[in-house]
Formats: sequence, structure tokens, C-alpha cells
Amino acid sequence: MSRKDKKFEVQVFHSPEDLTSAAADLFLEESRRRIQERNSFTTALSGGTTPRALFQLLSKPPYLPAVEWSKIHFFWGDERSVPPSHADSNYRMAKENLLDQVDIDPNKVHRMETESDPLEQAALAYEERLRRVLTSNRAPEPSLDLILLGMGGDGHTASLFPHSAALNEKNRWVVPNYIESMKTWRMTLTAPFLNRASTIVFLVTGADKASRLKEVIEGPPRPMEWPSQLIQSENGRLIWMVDEAAASKLS
Ligand code: 6PG
Repeated sequence: MSRKDKKFEVQVFHSPEDLTSAAADLFLEESRRRIQERNSFTTALSGGTTPRALFQLLSKPPYLPAVEWSKIHFFWGDERSVPPSHADSNYRMAKENLLDQVDIDPNKVHRMETESDPLEQAALAYEERLRRVLTSNRAPEPSLDLILLGMGGDGHTASLFPHSAALNEKNRWVVPNYIESMKTWRMTLTAPFLNRASTIVFLVTGADKASRLKEVIEGPPRPMEWPSQLIQSENGRLIWMVDEAAASKLS
């Protein structure tokens, strides 16, 4: 079965800048809607280069004064095994480009503590933290409102890397995951948990992603090789925001 039969939208933007503006508009709209409904909004941020531009845009007018920053719970989709001050830290990237620039509630910033040893315990603690925040949201099944994801050139998303153990996870929300190709551990939200979110957005730019994007979106199901295929919204929206360069091979 082709992934064309699955439920998702592909939005193609002329440039990475247009894509970033559309993602910022979506962030503003979704946060407004949820804050109106229940006075709180929950999101998971990602690492990588594409979200950096989004964070920088969100931290300036017109978004800066329009978003109710203090009502947002910030989680992360994944984190590298480094302390929060490290240049590779996804938390640090979000902190420098967004969180330090806006009026957040520090109690609502939930970073993955990947400097902890053992990582397993930190993953369980993160899951517990998610559970606590999300169950107080009165949702029938605890889930995040908006998840931002990127796709690596190898088809990974969050830290769900090709052929890694976390791809087989069915029950856990958060796991440590060993990445053989990099000989390193990471922490990641799992596909079953990501898939329950109300809105899932992939941000993908650049010609170097074009072939992989075609395989992931239009190719046969090979989720062990191309883990981004594991992301399929259960009851909400899955949106692929891509620029023309990344979309150039799509039919
Ligand atoms: C990470 C990310 C990862 C990222 C993709 C795409 O920690 O590395 O969360 O999943 O989103 O690798 O990254 P780019 O946007 O830089 O291509």
C-alpha cells in the first residue's frame, strides 16, 4: 500500500522563509485556540537547523506580543546525550533562540535531562512529567497539542534512527535510544506517543532532502529504514511543510 493512501497533508512553500512564516502562523493559531479552550497549550520542540529559523521568527513581533508565552508547556521531541550548556543541546538551541527572548513560565519548560545517568531513569521521569502535565489537561487520552519535527537525510525523525531499538517500542512514551551509526545515546519520544498529538508538523527544507522525502512520502512502507514513516496521526492532523527544493522530486 502506498503512503498516498494515508492521512496527511503536504504543503509546499516557495522558499524556506515562506515555510517558516507559515509554521509560525500555525504555532500562533494553535496556541490561541488551545489557550482559549483550556488556558494552556502543550508543544514539543525539535532540534536541527529548520526550527532555529522558526524560533527566531517567533521571538520577534508580530508573534512575540501575540503569543501567550506564559501559558505554554514546552517539551522536546528528542535530546542528544549532552549537558544543557553544550553546543549540541536541543534545549540550548531553543533556549537561546526562543525561550530566553520571550516571557515564559520557567515551571513549564520541561527539558530532557540527558546528562543524567542512568538515562533510562531520566526517560521514565520525563514520561512521568508528561503524564502529570497532560492528564491535568482533561484530554480523554493524554497527548500533546503540537509537535514540531524535522526529517534527517537518512529518514530519521526526533531520535528515531533507522534500525534503532526505539522503533519497536509500542507502550513507552519516552525511551533512551542507542544510535549505532553515531555510537551515541539519545532520548526520544516514541512514535506511538507522537502519533497521538493533535497536530504534528514536519519542517523539511533543501534539495539534499528531496530523494528521501519522496521515498518517505510516496515510497513503499519501510519504516525500519525510513523511521519518519512511523509518524501517522491517529486522530489529528499530520502536515508536511516542505520547501520547493525538498519537494522537487514529489509527483
Ligand atoms: C535532532 C533532531 C532531528 C532533526 C533532523 C532534521 O536532534 O537532530 O531533533 O530529528 O529534526 O535531523 O534536522 P535539520 O532540520 O537540521 O535537517
